[in-house]
Amino acid sequence: MRKKIVAANWKMNMTQAEAARFIESMLLDLGEITDVEVVIVPPFTAIAKVMEALGRAQNIKVGAQNMYWEKNGPFTGEISGPLLRDLFVHYVVLGHSERRILFGETDEIVNRKVRAAHEATLRPIVCIGETLEQRDMGNVEKILAIQMRGSLAGLNAKELQETVIAYEPVWAIGTGRNATPDQAQEAHAFVRHILGEMADDATAERVRIQYGGSVKPENARELMSQPDIDGALVGGASLDPRSFVQIVKAARER
Ligand code: 13P
Repeated sequence: MRKKIVAANWKMNMTQAEAARFIESMLLDLGEITDVEVVIVPPFTAIAKVMEALGRAQNIKVGAQNMYWEKNGPFTGEISGPLLRDLFVHYVVLGHSERRILFGETDEIVNRKVRAAHEATLRPIVCIGETLEQRDMGNVEKILAIQMRGSLAGLNAKELQETVIAYEPVWAIGTGRNATPDQAQEAHAFVRHILGEMADDATAERVRIQYGGSVKPENARELMSQPDIDGALVGGASLDPRSFVQIVKAARER
């Protein structure tokens, strides 16, 4: 049985003070939660504050939104896996479509980062997803297969199991238009099928696949009750602690 994983991708939002207030409010509302894995993914500048605010709530994990593949050296402006581990970060989001589209990240670049993340014992959350144009052309499976085989190349079965995949159709991100539960389930089942080809069926069954793209309290439950949807990567709705907690709670219901 895969444990659901719900992550808050704050993107380029949240000052330290806002982050601390969010965590305080979330903890009050959420109470003790052990049946869903909760991950907060702040901007780099708020990571330490989030850790401090979480205090003893150690079942809630913290992620970063990006990293570079080298460990250290003359790479002005970059952050490495070991530097993130130094902050007790557990997860790192890699290959988000905003990074692919706005910052030119290719599958090869994402793959280097994914392998460096494993080397640093960080768990990558690897984002994949098609554009509306690609969907309209009937190329969803082709695009997902290319992105998976490229971004996850060279990982062994253990590393694949410790990788989270986020299916985020580009047309659903920040648009208010989520994929329907059927559309998302179909894509997730295909992703799991490709994982089976890349490794084996037992490995594929263990990998958690999150859905991302306009997840809200109103649609979270139906999306996450699909058999291959193992959680959510939440953008806009994760900036409000009440709506984020509602989404986490929706992950418990079947
Ligand atoms: P929204 O939830 O704002 O659509 O963003 C999704 C996303 O990009 C999460 O990584």
